[in-house]
Amino acid sequence: MKIHLKIGFIGVGNLAQTVIKGLIENKVVEAKSIFGSNRSDGKLQKIADLYGINACATNEEVVDKADVIVIATKPQDLAGAIEPIASVFTEKQMLISLAAGVTLRQLRKKLPQCRIVRLMPNTPSLISRGVIGFVMNEEDPGLQTIVEDLFEPLGYVLKVEDEEKFEALMVSCSAGTGFIFELMMYWQEWIEERGFDPDTARKMTVETFLGASMLASQQKEASLEDLLLKVSSKKGVTAAGLQSMRELEIERALRYSFEKAALRNQELAKET
Ligand SMILES: NC(=O)c1ccc[n+]([C@@H]2O[C@H](COP(=O)([O-])OP(=O)(O)OC[C@H]3O[C@@H](n4cnc5c(N)ncnc54)[C@H](OP(=O)(O)O)[C@@H]3O)[C@@H](O)[C@H]2O)c1
Repeated sequence: MKIHLKIGFIGVGNLAQTVIKGLIENKVVEAKSIFGSNRSDGKLQKIADLYGINACATNEEVVDKADVIVIATKPQDLAGAIEPIASVFTEKQMLISLAAGVTLRQLRKKLPQCRIVRLMPNTPSLISRGVIGFVMNEEDPGLQTIVEDLFEPLGYVLKVEDEEKFEALMVSCSAGTGFIFELMMYWQEWIEERGFDPDTARKMTVETFLGASMLASQQKEASLEDLLLKVSSKKGVTAAGLQSMRELEIERALRYSFEKAALRNQELAKET
């Protein structure tokens, strides 16, 4: 086992279950060192039976038992989960918050005694192909290693220096996953309009995105521009399409969407 600490999860919903599964299957943490609590009992018992983790009757019990506490509720439930038990946390404990929109400053205010990390996995983490960004209050190499070891089973783990970069990561990789699906829908629709059945059109679309991504992933020495040049010859078919994409300022439209998403993230942070 890589980590010999006790890990607690407050909230064992979709994301927490993915993390727990990754930790156990990849032998990062033993099931008996994992503790969980949840608002509704049924879900917790199911997870405990499935993975052999410890089911705790209360959130307080999780904090009591664990060294690292992952708060995996939705952002709007975070305050209700932590505030009543804030005094139970000790200065030795580490808190990892998965809640979007709850800043380090807000977390520090609630739990001034703990070492705190904000972490954001994107949805492909569910299939171990995620981008998982995290940010901490201050340099803490010990805590950084723990976070990297815990979340590596979900994909590419990346520490960013500040919350501005954390927001950029959320917009480009978490919201970005949604933007990619939107583009894929345009692809599929266009293919279907040319007489392909939906299943074939979907497969053609998915394989095109996957193939391009895998090529870029494998040919690490090539920049994305190099790869683009390789598929487009002067006055060719691809070049004609690209020229039109540029005339229509697709980049500007996308940048605008990124900025809009960032603004919404800031609004949500205020509301939370
Ligand atoms: N799923 C993803 O792909 C993903 C990706 C990136 C980030 N995230 C972030 O991860 C967090 C969790 O998302 P999720 O999709 O896993 O949500 P989810 O499936 O709704 O899980 C949240 C869990 O928290 C439990 N909960 C709520 N209040 C609680 C309390 N006071 N005490 C104990 N447990 C409580 C809920 O219990 P009930 O059973 O009663 O509902 C639920 O099981 C969110 O902040 C989200 O933004 C998720």
